[in-house]
This record gives sequence, C-alpha cells and structure tokens, in this order.
Amino acid sequence: MSTRPRDALTLTEKAKSIVERWREVEYAGVKVSYKQRLDGGGSTFGQDYIAWLKALEMPRQGRVFEWCSGPAFIGFSMLAHGLCDTLFLADINPWAVEACRRTVERNGLGGRVTVVHSDNLEQVPPSERFDLVVGNPPHFIDRLEGNLRAFDEGWEIHRRFYASIGRFLTPTGVCLIQENAQGSKTDDFRRMIADGGLDLVHDGFGHPPPGCHPRFYYVGSVLNGATPPAWLPKR
Ligand SMILES: C[S@@+](CC[C@H](N)C(=O)[O-])C[C@H]1O[C@@H](n2cnc3c(N)ncnc32)[C@H](O)[C@@H]1O
Repeated sequence: MSTRPRDALTLTEKAKSIVERWREVEYAGVKVSYKQRLDGGGSTFGQDYIAWLKALEMPRQGRVFEWCSGPAFIGFSMLAHGLCDTLFLADINPWAVEACRRTVERNGLGGRVTVVHSDNLEQVPPSERFDLVVGNPPHFIDRLEGNLRAFDEGWEIHRRFYASIGRFLTPTGVCLIQENAQGSKTDDFRRMIADGGLDLVHDGFGHPPPGCHPRFYYVGSVLNGATPPAWLPKR
C-alpha cells in the first residue's frame, strides 16, 4: 500500500473545482454533498443499483465498497436505504474525497463510513474486507481522452482493479460493477477477471435489469470456486 495517490487533476480542473459551488441531493434522509463536475452519473443511472438490488431481494450486506466513488451517490444511497451496515469509499480525485467527507460530517456517519483518497486500490488498507463491491468506473477507452470521470486508457483502471480486488473480498464477497454498453461488453473484462482469480458469475450485457437505464449493464464476479449468492441471477 503506497501512502499517497498520484496527482490526478490538471491545473484547469483544480481551478474549476475550487470555483464551483457545493450542491446537495438527498437519499432516504442522507444528504449527499457534491459538485456538478464530480457527478459521473451516480445521481441518475447509478441509482438503478438501489431499485435493482431491492428487486433482487439482496439481503442487507455488511461492508460495501464503492470503487471510483466520486461523491458516492451509490454508496450513500445504499446505506440510506438499509442495503448495508457500513461503507468504504475511495477515489483518486481529492475533491470527490472532500465531497464524501462533507457528507459523512453533515449526516453524522463517521462510525459507519470510511473515506480514502486512493489511486484504484493502492491506498486501501490491507486489512479491509468487503462483502459487496459496487462501482460506476470510467467507461470508455475510445473517447473522452483525459477525462478523469470517463476515460480508462487501454482498460488499465479496470485491469488493476480486477488484479487486486480478490484480496479484499470476504470468502462470499461479490463484485457487481456497472458498465456502459456504449463503451464496452462483458468480453472486454472476462480475461482480467479470470487473471485476478475471480469467476464471472453475472453477465448482464444485453440484459439491463427491468425498469433500469437500458444502456447500462452489470458484471458480477466472486472468488474462484466460491458459490455465487442466491440473490444474483446469471444474467
Ligand atoms: C464515471 S465517474 C463515477 C463517479 C461516481 N461514482 C458516480 O457514480 O457519479 C468515475 C470516477 O472514477 C474516478 N477515478 C478515475 N480514475 C481513478 C483511479 N485510478 N482510481 C480511483 N478512482 C478513479 C474518477 O475520479 C470518478 O470519480
């Protein structure tokens, strides 16, 4: 674990982030702080997670990690809706981390939420174990180059994630990552999932959950040989 992530923001991005005003959105009583430029869709299609996981009757999870959290619209909404006990949040953008910390403070969630400034999983403490990992990561390799919210050059962010996440999962832990069908298909991730010691157990490409944004699909994985949870369909 290295102690400090690389500086991810350009000078222009830093200046724009300082100037932009703070906003707030409320999920089941939790007020989430954010700036518009930090919203990567978590306040819109990201909320599909809540409706879908409730429809699947997923049992309340212990510790949930929102990878590439931004202001953690997804994670805080899951917590607010009683889908988990505690949250772990990490993002490379220091403003996203600041947003999460504001939300924790404003809602008195210090005992239930951990926030880390991290390049992918590099600053995640080795002792962490997650029952469920969710995330709305950068979705494109062929457009929006240089955009921190959208661009994943050569799928390097995804590759590093799948190479390391296994060591942070509980034996029954699940990764359920939201992807954009306009930027990828499950096959793009199949090899990196296998190389990371994981089994692909949910392939949602072409099967958006009913009532959810049709462009988005989910990729689910568990540790090699682990039994997928009964609540998670194969597709
Ligand atoms: C599509 S946005 C999603 C933001 C938020 N989760 C949401 O749903 O609105 C992708 C997020 O990934 C973060 N990100 C990009 N590269 C990263 C990296 N190497 N490590 C951690 N986070 C990263 C960005 O800062 C951004 O917050």
